[in-house]
Amino acid sequence: MSRSDRSRLSQATLAFRSKALVATLASVGGFALATSSAVFAQTPAGKVKVGLMLPSSGTYAGLGTAITNGFKQYVDEQGGKLGGLQVEYAIVDDESNPAKAVENARKLIKRDEVDVLVGTVHSGVAMAMAKVARDNKTLMIVPNAGADEITGAQCAKNVFRTSFSMWQPAYAMGKVMADKGFKKVVTLTWNYAAGKQSIDGFKESFTKKGGVVIKDMSLPFPNVEFQPFLTEIAALKPDAVFVFFAGGGAAKFLKDYEAAGLKKSIPLYGSGFLTDGVLQAAGESATGVMTTLHYADGLNNKEDKDFRSNYQKRFNMVPDVYAVQGYDAAQLYEAGLKAAAGKLDQQDKIIAGMQAAKFDSPRGPMAFSKANNPIQNVYLREVKGSLNQVSSIATPNLEDPARGCSL
Ligand code: BEZ
Repeated sequence: MSRSDRSRLSQATLAFRSKALVATLASVGGFALATSSAVFAQTPAGKVKVGLMLPSSGTYAGLGTAITNGFKQYVDEQGGKLGGLQVEYAIVDDESNPAKAVENARKLIKRDEVDVLVGTVHSGVAMAMAKVARDNKTLMIVPNAGADEITGAQCAKNVFRTSFSMWQPAYAMGKVMADKGFKKVVTLTWNYAAGKQSIDGFKESFTKKGGVVIKDMSLPFPNVEFQPFLTEIAALKPDAVFVFFAGGGAAKFLKDYEAAGLKKSIPLYGSGFLTDGVLQAAGESATGVMTTLHYADGLNNKEDKDFRSNYQKRFNMVPDVYAVQGYDAAQLYEAGLKAAAGKLDQQDKIIAGMQAAKFDSPRGPMAFSKANNPIQNVYLREVKGSLNQVSSIATPNLEDPARGCSL
């Protein structure tokens, strides 16, 4: 018997038991009248099993932890429930290893029988997961990985994203840098889907405004031997550098860039992953670096103030974009469960509820495109002390073009 069959059966059993209890109470007259609404209000509505497939080891471990923290914080703020259902977790460390992705995703779907798959950070892993989710018709929420295909050429009704496409923050930065008057830029990234697509998004808007990329450079993920590239940048003398790095590798890059003496002479820019969640590790080397992202410190809206103060209390640290994406993954799933009145076997209604969801995230207003990717503000931020302080909205309500998606 499948999990949704069991869920249907247990819901029917609960309804039967509730009715039987009310009938018994009715037989004792007034007592039943006084308590019947309480009986329905307390009806245990069942459970929902969430599969968290995220990294808890390797260069993206901190990102996986922040997403898990954010997701659990939202659930705990709802009393441990989403849409009236008690939340249980099945957890797998995906190690940011694409070679293990299919096996890990199948384990969560087949062995643990999760109702929703939440993951992951690394684009290569997420694309493999999304294929398993599509093949098994399992609902999936991507709380980070930005590969454009996930909500582009390989989009699917049952695959949502609460983070970004690689295109979004990078495209916004191309305009910012062109408007600042930079003409000649060098790019550097890890050589995998996320890095390549970040550079593509940047180039699309930068070159449209007359900028020229004089050299694209890359190294394998998660290599951090940056020295030869820094030597080449010094020799090329571009007006500025645009990079994609994240997690532990980003902190190392910021330090190496400063240590090579480049920070004073060649301004460094990137998508906000370069500086989000790494400022403690990067220290002074990050100061003044400008990035674009769909979250920033100092947004000053009520949802963000509440989110940050709760996060700080629970985890004793300042939240970052990854925590927000995890928080919103839980919030989005709740919208779907509410639309289906907690009936897990009604996936069409869950999906319709998620598609139509509009909420005030800590990041600002958030809605979903037809391809299930967030439509959101992209902010320009500057590192000041230990914060990615918001400077302005670089592009409001930016929607990914979802190239190749025919939903
Ligand atoms: C990615 O692989 O999609 C990714 C990883 C870390 C930060 C941003 C994107």
